Amino acid sequence: MPKKKLVVLSGAGISAESGIPTFRDAGGLWEGHDVMEVASPQGWKKNPALVLDFYNQRRKAAKQAQPNDAHKIVKRLEDYFDVTVITQNVDDLHEKAGSSHVIHLHGSLFQMRSSLDENLVYDIEGDIHLGDKCPKGSQLRPHIVWFGEAVPLITTAAEISIDSDVFIVVGTSLQVYPAAGLIEYLHRDTLKFLVDLNPPSVDYIKNLTIIADKASEGMRKVMEKLMEIFPN
Ligand code: APR
Repeated sequence: MPKKKLVVLSGAGISAESGIPTFRDAGGLWEGHDVMEVASPQGWKKNPALVLDFYNQRRKAAKQAQPNDAHKIVKRLEDYFDVTVITQNVDDLHEKAGSSHVIHLHGSLFQMRSSLDENLVYDIEGDIHLGDKCPKGSQLRPHIVWFGEAVPLITTAAEISIDSDVFIVVGTSLQVYPAAGLIEYLHRDTLKFLVDLNPPSVDYIKNLTIIADKASEGMRKVMEKLMEIFPN
């Protein structure tokens, strides 16, 4: 029997226990910055040095962070399911935990791209500096999807989501579209779980179990339930 298809849609809350702050829990400020100043094309135009510095710091912090039990359970689910992780996070903690199939909907701290041609994408470990140029001569920028920008991987993510047997949402406030919309197009009979310390209101979703807990504990409970529902 082929393995059942399981999708994990993760957000900032899954990395909170690894010491990476979420966005909206801080009251609109993100590490002391107005989100629009550091995560929008307007902010980039106004002050590219600030934006580069901001993401250089986030990259350093992400490099030091370690996956927590929630990321590890997501990896362990691969023993039983055909797992795809769709993450809104730009850290690499799912990869560090060993997950094999991770879609970064909002880009990655460990890639940079041309500001002229979004297809010119490069891996990066260190800092991006003002004056670092792509081969076409434009300033290199973080490969991050900012507010107001298109989400190129959303079609792929939607196709995989619609096809899932089990769909787990963990640590996202579901405030940002199109990512938040993925849960709205699932089949009625797809088994759905939502794990969040402070769960967003999603009463309109059928066949959904809500677990109000921190990500590590919530994912442990989801794993337990899945093992009951799908015994080997
Ligand atoms: N365990 C589980 N959930 C948690 C924890 C925790 N330890 N800590 C916080 N949360 C929950 C919060 O209750 C909230 O619902 O995680 C969620 C975090 O929500 P946001 O900060 O809005 O993060 P996210 O949903 O990932 O944001 C989406 O917005 O700014 C953009 O592009 C950015 O990808 C980001 C997108």
